[in-house]
Amino acid sequence: AWRPEDDETSRRGATGPVKVHVPAKINLHLGVGPLRADGYHELNTVYHAISIQDELTARRGDTLTLTMEGEGTGVLALDETNLVIRAARALAAYAGVPAHARLHLRKQIPLAGGLAGGSADAAAALVACDALWGTGLTRDELATVAAGLGSDVPFLVFGGTALGTGRGEAVSPVLVRPTTWHWTVAIADAGLATPSVYAELDRLRDAGAAPTPMGSPDRLLGALRQRDPAVLGAALGNDLEPAAVSLRPELARVLAAGRSAGALASIVSGSGPTCVFLASDAGHADRMARDLTAADVCRLVRTAHGPVAGARVG
Ligand code: C5P
Repeated sequence: AWRPEDDETSRRGATGPVKVHVPAKINLHLGVGPLRADGYHELNTVYHAISIQDELTARRGDTLTLTMEGEGTGVLALDETNLVIRAARALAAYAGVPAHARLHLRKQIPLAGGLAGGSADAAAALVACDALWGTGLTRDELATVAAGLGSDVPFLVFGGTALGTGRGEAVSPVLVRPTTWHWTVAIADAGLATPSVYAELDRLRDAGAAPTPMGSPDRLLGALRQRDPAVLGAALGNDLEPAAVSLRPELARVLAAGRSAGALASIVSGSGPTCVFLASDAGHADRMARDLTAADVCRLVRTAHGPVAGARVG
């Protein structure tokens, strides 16, 4: 609900801390087209925001600093290379304000997991600093700044379920009657670098060893409208999956364990190595989580639902 102080906040910024939650994403359909001259691949993807979240808190400060806890602590660099710092600087430059903030990240989304955790944190930094500084950008303006930070960052500003084209940065919402989908998520011990997975797909394609590209997401979009998990399961697909499995052959075991646990579909999320399993309901997701934990094929098993909102204050 609108409150008079909300307008004050957007004009002058916040004096107290601003806390932002941001989801992880999976791709219900990830169609990878040809490699472009700029080093990116043309994509046709359907993004889906799920309820595994990071939390970013922004406070007033005299410089720009970042601290963190949770997933990746001690591994993730907190310097100028960090996407959170780059996002804060990009927003400050766009809005013409000093990049002064003390940022603290609580991470649950694994690093290099194919869940767009780094991109999520960048989106969270844009939304948090916009509120802290009172720069009052629209979501579309935030998405414009986001596109300069990474292909998945604009989607995480919006969340929900959305179509991504171009290199993934051109996002438009998928308008369907709201349905909640339930997932079980298998998180691996070690991450996979996104560029190496795209390069492996190029190598497999050059060698004639990759499946035919999926192309358009029409079938997936049709399945979303039917609101039947079995129909959605049959339509899920990821052109990057053979490349992720080629680089990390044990993923075949994780996907098979999901099928044994009764998943309606088992897919690699984005560039992997996280695997996601579609459940028929929340109870089924819990039962699959127990079975997958017992199968001992990954570091951590979680359940999640989607779609959820993108980066949001509160
Ligand atoms: O956009 P972002 O920085 O997240 O992309 C990381 C890397 O993933 C790119 O440098 C590129 O190697 C690969 N990529 C791609 N095609 C895309 C998106 C990402 O090849 N559409």
